[in-house]
Amino acid sequence: MDSILVRGNGALNGQIPIAGAKNTVLKLMCAALLTDEPLTLTNVPRLADIRTLSDVLESLGCEIAQLANGRVLALNATQLTSHKADYDLVRKLRASFNVLGPMLARAGEAIVSMPGGCAIGARAVDMHLDALERLGATIELKDGYVHASAPKGLKGAEIPLRFASVGATENAMTAATLAKGTTVIKNAAREPDTKALADCLIAMGAQIEGAGTETITIQGVDSLHGATQAVIPDRIEMGTFMIAPMIAGGSVELLGGRLDLIPSFAEKMQEAGAIIEETKLGLRVTKPDGPIKPVNVTTEPFPGFPTDLQAQFMAMMCFADGVSVLEETIFENRFMHAPELLRMGAHVEVHGGTATVTGVDKMNGAQVMATDLRASVSLILAGLRAEGETQVNRVYHLDRGYERIEEKLSAVGANIERVKGS
Ligand code: EPZ
Repeated sequence: MDSILVRGNGALNGQIPIAGAKNTVLKLMCAALLTDEPLTLTNVPRLADIRTLSDVLESLGCEIAQLANGRVLALNATQLTSHKADYDLVRKLRASFNVLGPMLARAGEAIVSMPGGCAIGARAVDMHLDALERLGATIELKDGYVHASAPKGLKGAEIPLRFASVGATENAMTAATLAKGTTVIKNAAREPDTKALADCLIAMGAQIEGAGTETITIQGVDSLHGATQAVIPDRIEMGTFMIAPMIAGGSVELLGGRLDLIPSFAEKMQEAGAIIEETKLGLRVTKPDGPIKPVNVTTEPFPGFPTDLQAQFMAMMCFADGVSVLEETIFENRFMHAPELLRMGAHVEVHGGTATVTGVDKMNGAQVMATDLRASVSLILAGLRAEGETQVNRVYHLDRGYERIEEKLSAVGANIERVKGS
């Protein structure tokens, strides 16, 4: 297994291109199942998760061509040859559970493995299933699989979500595009990824209003057509690289960066002392002289502080001049990075969903273990300022969601390299 070596190396300076968003492109790929015409996606990031989801879609009969060195994906689900998404594929990537809604809407039947839990939480799917039942599907759980059927097609309905779940909103919205009548999703997720999915569905001929707000209304249509859609910038990759110069010092321009994708995160960064400027090519983040200020954050659904940036923010607070409190409200087990940061000399106390971080003057390099995608990158960020060498093991977690991170960081002056595993 590969690992990554990072050595504290002083200030970062230069430009980092921001890739297309992982959490958008995965859902757009699932949407290809809704039509028998080609869906072409551009600005596609090169990530392990894309390859895993491609395997799932190909097992259902979708043809996928990677063009332009992987930056363009041409998906063609002219004919679905299977309605079953297998455990061996789905267990590798939870997001593949979002083939359920589109397949059920298109084919009237779908058999999808339950995704199971993961390192950060139980990750239940009850809201997904409740939404599809409200749209008229019969749902049965058998041998670890969801068996969903609607032989006469789905029917529009009201779907009140008990929590603004991203996945449940997206599964329900895609399914409702081909349902008879009107669907209203209440307390819907407002994440930019969900809005981007709606934009793609509209480009395919869907009738959707209110995406990006708490109430999404979908008027079902008989069929959808092909389209070409660009993937929006990855706001989590962007946030990660905004934190890098705050930890290491310096100033970095993020090409393609957009502040509107991370409003509350940007505010918290400014509270910590970051200078954030919009530029012609994106946005620039500069670390001013003086210490990082301690800041309290609570993770929330969009437009609140994103849970996917909590670990990275903790790494920054480890170097702050004082005490900060981080509350994780979305996932029940998302502080796995804390014990690894402690190995690097950080001062973090975790009690349930609350972490209290007391900033330290310096941290030391160490051998540390990646436990999940965002935890792994927080260890790399801490390593940018730690004295000595940090070795982050199990970086396959990282490759799921970050494209060539060691190349992007070394291009702005970081001392970082990948060590190929046997
Ligand atoms: C999406 O996961 C993202 N993944 C996650 O990013 C992100 O952390 C999350 O949204 C929140 O922003 C993708 O888009 C592929 P949820 P999702 O449904 O859809 C509970 C990353 O690092 N819940 O909004 O799974 C659930 O257990 C990943 O890129 C139910 O209880 O998130 C969780 O505690 C990690 N029942 C909470 O809601 C349900 O039916 C939020 O989940 C659905 C969700």
